[in-house]
Amino acid sequence: MERGHTHTLFLTRLILLLLILVTVTTCNSHIHGPRANQGETLMAFRRSRNRAQVNTVNENLITESSFSEMKTDDNGRRMEDDYIQGGLPGQPSSKGSMFKQYAGYINVDRINGRSLFYYFVEALHEPSSKPLVLWLNGGPGCSSLGVGAMLEIGPFGVNPDGKTIYSRRFSWNKVANILFLESPAGVGFSYSNTTSDYDLSGDKRTTDDSYTFLVNWFKRFPHYKNNDFYIIGESYAGFYIPELADVITKKNMEGHSTSIINFKGIMRSCFPLSIE
Ligand SMILES: *[C@@H]1O[C@H](CO)[C@@H](O)[C@H](O)[C@H]1NC(C)=O
Repeated sequence: MERGHTHTLFLTRLILLLLILVTVTTCNSHIHGPRANQGETLMAFRRSRNRAQVNTVNENLITESSFSEMKTDDNGRRMEDDYIQGGLPGQPSSKGSMFKQYAGYINVDRINGRSLFYYFVEALHEPSSKPLVLWLNGGPGCSSLGVGAMLEIGPFGVNPDGKTIYSRRFSWNKVANILFLESPAGVGFSYSNTTSDYDLSGDKRTTDDSYTFLVNWFKRFPHYKNNDFYIIGESYAGFYIPELADVITKKNMEGHSTSIINFKGIMRSCFPLSIE
């Protein structure tokens, strides 16, 4: 019992240390010289591993066919359908027209009826030339809309009256397009029509669902396919982020041109960001 606990503690510390290293490396690469492209580095790493152990790696690949078996669809919706006309309720009026906001559902499993909710804010200026950031909160089970967007990095925070919102001075959409994803199903507005899905939730399915979400999200927002894509988040997302990055690089290497994601890198913070 005691030994098991010490062992777990050691493992937890090791993982934390590794994650800090990843974060520090990311920060350094922004400060020093030519920015290392994490996406490409990961791809190169994958390639070398693939050469070394072709069989084992391929077993884990999520193949194109297993995704079509999921019978995902995007309900034939276009981005305009998800546009938040007039901004959020109680939003300061001056900000309303300055950047566009979208929200909606992307189905990730049509058979079970599982669907993930997203809130997307475009960058304040020239969104087409800015990076696209997928933001994930941790938990597991923490809402990216309620916490990530509203308490941490989004363009608005909720006023004490609980009815109106204010503009956040250091909103990240001043420098990037931010896609807040509520994940896995059961978190925030994301849901499944099959109750047992909630019991069978886990990192592997969270990763697969997030990937399916992304592929379908890009179908709805095709003109974001060429923007530099990053995954950033905090806390338990330190598990989700590298796992999703791994799937993206594997899938990118399979080279189905329709689902290539212009993946550049990841960043993860250990502690909740509360910036004001
Ligand atoms: C879940 O069920 C509701 C009610 O039948 C339906 O409107 C909705 O489309 C279903 N969701 C999915 C993802 O299938």
